[in-house]
Amino acid sequence: MSAQRIDGKQISESIRKELAREAEQLKSQGIVPGLAVVLVGEDPASKVYVGSKEKACHQLGFYSEVHRLPESTTQEELLALIDRLNAQPTVHGILVQLPLPRHIDEKAVIDAIAPEKDVDGFHPISVGNLVIGDDSLLPCTPAGVIELIKRSGVEIAGKHAVVIGRSNIVGKPVAMLLLRENATVTICHSRTADLPAIARQADILVVAIGRPKAIRRDCVKPGAVVIDVGVNRLPDGKLAGDVDYDDCLDVAGAITPVPGGVGPMTITMLMKNTLEAAKRIGR
Ligand code: GUN
Repeated sequence: MSAQRIDGKQISESIRKELAREAEQLKSQGIVPGLAVVLVGEDPASKVYVGSKEKACHQLGFYSEVHRLPESTTQEELLALIDRLNAQPTVHGILVQLPLPRHIDEKAVIDAIAPEKDVDGFHPISVGNLVIGDDSLLPCTPAGVIELIKRSGVEIAGKHAVVIGRSNIVGKPVAMLLLRENATVTICHSRTADLPAIARQADILVVAIGRPKAIRRDCVKPGAVVIDVGVNRLPDGKLAGDVDYDDCLDVAGAITPVPGGVGPMTITMLMKNTLEAAKRIGR
């Protein structure tokens, strides 16, 4: 039997409708959620992502400002801008698009963002709160993965979740969020011995390794929920996930496509974080 296709686009649209309603309510109290996005340099993919974030803000009636800075921007200039945005009352969320040019220390920049405006959830204080289970802004892609699973009607508590990948922006935080949802969590990575045997134990399999179609049906337990975080550009220009979708389709119980699965959720969760920051900070 063919797996249920988890439609990230549809789920993302229904969350955006909820957010638009909440934003209207906030506006009636005089608060307009505001997001500042900072882009340094000319990376083509980053330009597209930043454009999508700007568009999402407009769609939801949020205040948006985008700072497009030249490649030659110094670290001091960027840190000075972040200081200004930290103090600016119309801005509730600050996102510095990564990667940054090589002459800028990414960590110094992330550390400079006020944690209450850290809508990426990358600041060490946000990461610490995530681990402790405190109420901080959650990193967007991992939070999107959890929403997709929940809104597909899948119960997480008590399930064995296997995460393949241990990056700071997806693997580690998604594992922490699954643990917070009371899953039993295993993290696999490039040095894991017999990865397929462990992956096959998963009721929920989350894959974030950045290698196109690397995970095939030998890694999937019949009926498992498979969430593919990978976005890889193939030589023919098409996008492919980390999971071989066609190969896994008749083994999995439910599976996300690429594109149209996790991808649309990331910006939606960024909007959710911006709204949440606005609620907490107020005007
Ligand atoms: N570059 C690619 N993904 C992301 C993200 O989620 N946040 C930021 N700031 N930069 C990125």
